[in-house]
Amino acid sequence: MLLRKGCHATQTCRFEGGLPDTPLQCSESSQAGAGFQERNLEAGRRDLDAAAVSPQTKMKKEFFVAETAQLHDGDRKVVPVDHTEVGVYRVEGKLYAYENLCHHQGGPACEGLLMPKVEEVLAEDRTYQRRRFNYNEWHIVCPWHAWEYDLQTGEYVVNRRIRLRKFEVLEKDGKIFVLA
Ligand code: FES
Repeated sequence: MLLRKGCHATQTCRFEGGLPDTPLQCSESSQAGAGFQERNLEAGRRDLDAAAVSPQTKMKKEFFVAETAQLHDGDRKVVPVDHTEVGVYRVEGKLYAYENLCHHQGGPACEGLLMPKVEEVLAEDRTYQRRRFNYNEWHIVCPWHAWEYDLQTGEYVVNRRIRLRKFEVLEKDGKIFVLA
């Protein structure tokens, strides 16, 4: 496994051989990143088209994630699903599942922090006062360069047209499955 130079990642790269060894810095990556984002936006559009197909015409397979009792509130588990990986979260009783693939440079988005949104508090004259956590909105933070995605929707919080690929999750007979 390869740890990519200059990256803030705490994880090893699972794209060894597939992406440049020396990653571009965030501020320098607009061209490469834009190309990557376009490809992923296109993939996202195809996902939406596929999702529009009725369940009767497209049977989905169940991929086992965990026993219900093993995924506690606040937990997350990344599992192989078909040809990719999916991060499954349980937060405040609800299950969410997203592809473990960041739209920035292909990092393992679901292997980073899960944290409340950070907000700045301003005074009436709009001067900065302090920061606070907003526990009504949780963010998936990609471990490579900290792109943040809204847990409820998978949207990149800076540009909500970009979003993680979402999967359906099913809980039955004491087990959790991703449908794909
Ligand atoms: S790969 Fe850069 S933030 Fe995810």
